[in-house]
Amino acid sequence: MSAILGCLLSYLIGSIPTGLILGKLLWGVDLREHGSHNIGATNAWRTLGKGPGIIIFLLDFLKGVIGVALGMYFAGTPLMMVLGGIMAIVGHSWSILLKFKGGKGVATGLGVIVMLMPSTALMVFLIWFVIVLITKYVSLGSIVAAACVPLFAWLFNQPCEYIVFSVLAAVFVIYRHKTNIGRLLNGTESKIKAGHRT
Ligand code: G3P
Repeated sequence: MSAILGCLLSYLIGSIPTGLILGKLLWGVDLREHGSHNIGATNAWRTLGKGPGIIIFLLDFLKGVIGVALGMYFAGTPLMMVLGGIMAIVGHSWSILLKFKGGKGVATGLGVIVMLMPSTALMVFLIWFVIVLITKYVSLGSIVAAACVPLFAWLFNQPCEYIVFSVLAAVFVIYRHKTNIGRLLNGTESKIKAGHRT
């Protein structure tokens, strides 16, 4: 029973569309109408500027941290921590408050990985950072970083539950980037630039 409650709470916290709420409340902007139309930190950075992008990243990241913490609190097993994290990512991407639409799960997923596998999180963050620095394509960084999570989880001898989670999360995040992949392939993906509203 407590496992179900933990998962439900994680899903509800993940469902809070921080980018959409703050964009509208603080800056009077609906992120769904600008840039990539995504409600995540990258589109907030692109549309609203660096500060809003960082704030929204941190809040979405926190949802992943809380998801795992809830799993820890309600059961404390590796499986429950993974499930708590998964439910936060699912809530963020298929929010009950947005008719089951939402973000791409990168910041929330990173929050989950930091809690479960900090060394893996550090490695994939560095990979993401270098790719974004060189190419200016955040989506490319996210896709490659997501693909590297299972590799580092395996290299760092993480528990079986975490490796299975890594594979599922990587597939999910890459799938959520399908429109970005199309744009990267046909050369229309936008390079990151702060506060450039389109
Ligand atoms: O975290 C999402 C990022 O990888 C891509 O965002 O707004 O360019 O679709 P966006």
